[in-house]
Parts: sequence; structure tokens; C-alpha cells
Amino acid sequence: MERSENARVRIVVKFFKDTGYKVGQCVCASRTPHNTTQTTREQNLVVRMGRSSKDKRDIYYRLAKEEGWRARSAFKLLQLDQEFNLFTGVNRAVDLCAAPGSWSQVLSRKLRGQEETTEQVKIVAVDLQAMAPLPGVTQIQGDITKVSTAQEIIRHFEGHPADLVVCDGAPDVTGLHDVDEYIQAQLLLAALNITTHVLKPGGTFVAKIFRGKDVVLLYSQLKIFFSGVTCAKPRSSRNSSIEAFVVCQNYSPPEGYIPNMSNPLLDHAYDVDFNQLEGPNRVIVPFLACGDLSAFDSDRTYPLQLDSDKLYEYTPPTQPPIQPPYQQACHLRRNNLLSREDTASREDTASICPETERLSTQTAEQSHT
Ligand SMILES: C[S@@+](CC[C@H](N)C(=O)[O-])C[C@H]1O[C@@H](n2cnc3c(N)ncnc32)[C@H](O)[C@@H]1O
Repeated sequence: MERSENARVRIVVKFFKDTGYKVGQCVCASRTPHNTTQTTREQNLVVRMGRSSKDKRDIYYRLAKEEGWRARSAFKLLQLDQEFNLFTGVNRAVDLCAAPGSWSQVLSRKLRGQEETTEQVKIVAVDLQAMAPLPGVTQIQGDITKVSTAQEIIRHFEGHPADLVVCDGAPDVTGLHDVDEYIQAQLLLAALNITTHVLKPGGTFVAKIFRGKDVVLLYSQLKIFFSGVTCAKPRSSRNSSIEAFVVCQNYSPPEGYIPNMSNPLLDHAYDVDFNQLEGPNRVIVPFLACGDLSAFDSDRTYPLQLDSDKLYEYTPPTQPPIQPPYQQACHLRRNNLLSREDTASREDTASICPETERLSTQTAEQSHT
């Protein structure tokens, strides 16, 4: 057995000791040729159990696959629509931070639903990541905080402003709540900035917001551009998540406002401008729960067999990611390259590609800190 394999075994043994698991409770996922005791049938069973347990834990994940949505997020937009009637009279829409594309699917299905209106419908979807094509959706791969991306979106709508802009943008969370909230707020402001260029007066803007302390500041900024701003929490958005959505209706920018991509919109200081206000001057942002309240609770675990006369059947994901950022890490793990400590194995890794080498070195360094 190689040295790195020994280290792996030591880690697994420590895991069992620390957690109190008994070996029979869990099947070791080792892919080494030494572990040949599992039959294919058992392996398949384990794979299926693993998959269906996610189906059991997350009812909206499972329903999304059954209904053909690329992500469970589709239900959030659908439930927001139930409350706010977002799609009535909408022909042109922008989906910011769209990948893997379930919101674009909702837009495509809802706006292109009637054959005779398909010609007039224009949907532009933008994301940092590549997205599999969707009928009637023009895709732009780019960063919404960059002027060049904004200009590309604006070009698609020249002369014909959009009726609706949606943004489900979320940064890769760091776990540092203040940083995550700050980045989320910056994404929202970038989306708002693009919106001021492409949205028609009276149009609607929907965006993800984190229910952190800056919500009052963002709410006040949005109120300057929209006569109606509501913070809503769809039923399919877990209570345990700080995520919510702002639904901004009736776009009416201040008189004389000229959209400008290098304009930081309204650069208020949170503490000075808002946090020290008192009494009637202090804004308390109301939150609205939306979606049918008797609908599935996204924080609960449901049995796999929801319907007594319909047998549970596993549904694979509608559209697996086409170029996920974690692909490299999966490759390393699959080939047992993540845990190698010796220089020789790093040299092996480097022969795959320089990026693999960088990731492997980083992982080894992190595991020592
Ligand atoms: C929660 S996912 C969106 C899910 C999508 N609404 C759906 O229903 O499939 C958040 C997306 O935000 C994108 N994103 C984050 N920062 C971005 C940025 N600066 N520019 C463009 N997209 C960004 C990520 O790439 C990710 O695909």
C-alpha cells in the first residue's frame, strides 16, 4: 500500500472512531482495487440510496426534476409570480445570473406559452458560467458587474426596453457572513444598474437579497427607482436561509436621472445615513411570505412515497451542469490526487495540467492549516 493510501486509511479509521459509526452502517466509498467485496448490485443500491435521500430531504429538488426544471429555484420564481403576477403583459425579459437556467425556463415557458406571441418574445440570459441552450433564450456569458457585459445586454434591447428584469445572483459563499452579505449587495446593485438602462418605465425588477443588516439601505436605494418595493420569501426558499427576494414594481427613476454604468448608483453610508435614524424616520422593512402557505415546507423532510398509490421512482436531474467550476476538484478526488502529500505525486498531478497542480498544492496547504 502506498504512503498516501496509508494516510487515507488512517483518516477513515479516525472518522469512524470520532463519529461512533459502526462499519456495517456505512459502505466505504473506496475506489481502490483492494476493495472488491461489494457486488455491483450492492453498489447500485448504495448509489440509489444516496440519490434518493437527497430527494427525500429536499422536496423541491425532487419536484424540480420530476417537472423538468433545471434547478429547484424555479419554484421560487413561480411562487413570486403567484403573489405578484409578474408575467402579465411581459414580452421582453432579462434573466441576470441565470445558470443553470431554471428561471430562464420559467420565463420561456410563461412568455412563449402562447404560440401567436412567440415572435415578439425576447429573453436574454446572462451568467458567468456557460449554460445549456433553451428555446427562445439568447445567452451571454459574462460578469454582470462589468461594464462590457452590461453594454452587451443593453445592445440587445436598444430601442425596445425590457418589461421585466430578474436576478437570482449569488456569490460563492465564503462563510464569512459580512463578506457574503456585502458581495450579495454588490451583485444586487450591479443588477439594478443594468436595470436602469434596459427597463421600461412602469417595469418590474426582481432580485435576490440577503436579509442582513444592509437590507434597509438596499430597500431605501430601490425605493428611489420604484414606487413599490416588497421583500418576499417564497415557500420554497428555506427558512434557514437568509435569502429573500425584492420585488420592485413600477420603475419610475427620479426626474432627470441619467443611467450611467460607472455611477455607483447612490453611494450612501449605512451607519450615518440610515442606522442612526429613529422613530418614524427609521425604516423597518416588511417581509411577505409568498407561495401557497399550505404548499410543501422547504425545511421539512418528506417520505419518498408521497402518494400511496404511486410508487416512488428516481428522476435524474433535468440538465446536469455543462462546465461546473468544481469539475477539476472532482477529477482530482476521483483519481485520488487530493490527498497526496509527497512531491513525487505532485509531479504526477502537474503532468495533468498546471491548474490541477495549483489546486492540488492549495488543497495540501489548506489541509495543513
Ligand atoms: C443561484 S444561481 C442562479 C440559479 C438560476 N436562477 C436558476 O434558476 O437556474 C446563482 C448564479 O449567479 C451567478 N453569478 C454570480 N456572480 C455573478 C456575476 N458577477 N455575473 C454573472 N453571474 C454571476 C453564478 O454563476 C450562478 O450561476
